[in-house]
Amino acid sequence: MSRRSWLVLIAVLSAVALYRDRMRAILKQTYANIHAFDLPSAGVYDALVASALEGFYARVASEITAANPSGKVLEVGSGPGRLAVRLTREAPATTLTGVDISDAMVERAARRAAGAGLSERVRFEVGDVGALPLADQEFDEVVSTLSLHHWSDPARGLAEIHRVLKPGGEARIYDLAHWLWLPAGGGNRLAQLAAASPFGEGEVEVVRWPGSVPAFVLLRLRRAREARS
Ligand SMILES: C[S@@+](CC[C@H](N)C(=O)[O-])C[C@H]1O[C@@H](n2cnc3c(N)ncnc32)[C@H](O)[C@@H]1O
Repeated sequence: MSRRSWLVLIAVLSAVALYRDRMRAILKQTYANIHAFDLPSAGVYDALVASALEGFYARVASEITAANPSGKVLEVGSGPGRLAVRLTREAPATTLTGVDISDAMVERAARRAAGAGLSERVRFEVGDVGALPLADQEFDEVVSTLSLHHWSDPARGLAEIHRVLKPGGEARIYDLAHWLWLPAGGGNRLAQLAAASPFGEGEVEVVRWPGSVPAFVLLRLRRAREARS
């Protein structure tokens, strides 16, 4: 090795030795952020992850609009609001409430909706899916994308979604496929969750996006209509 290469190597090793603890702390924080999907902030998630998923949101928005072209939609774990904006643009007769546990995500989503001139039909609130700050039987449709695997108590989340849906209303919960997010447990776990929830059952289907990649699953739930007396 040349003298210059030795000097570079010594400089790199010295820097690693000096900043080892700092680098370990950064890696630990980064791992925690990835786990919480904060990555490491709402802004970075929005720019790096959500922006790459626009095609997926377009597909979800069309599916929801086809199923329910008007009425009140709740989005749970609404993140930076990209789906909310798409959905309400595509379906001008809908209003949408987004609930997310992160203040930073809610702020970002509200700014996005305001920028798109949709503030009158779209609002965001900070809240936990396990204790939704919403009235009973308020919504025609509930949608959620890539959030369920973060919920500390998914069973409680489904019970809350059932509570806020109108009788006959539908919930569509999209999440990462099992092979992408092992702790989510894949389709079987979702079906079991649905069976144990007030919905009583749910349909799980593989969602292929992008192209034919089976990257997501959809859990479809319907609140039973009330029996006529
Ligand atoms: C991976 S991001 C997905 C955001 C957005 N739905 C999307 O598809 O880009 C997960 C979102 O779920 C939110 N979240 C996590 N746990 C939650 C909970 N218990 N209640 C409500 N939102 C939650 C996070 O704050 C985050 O915004």
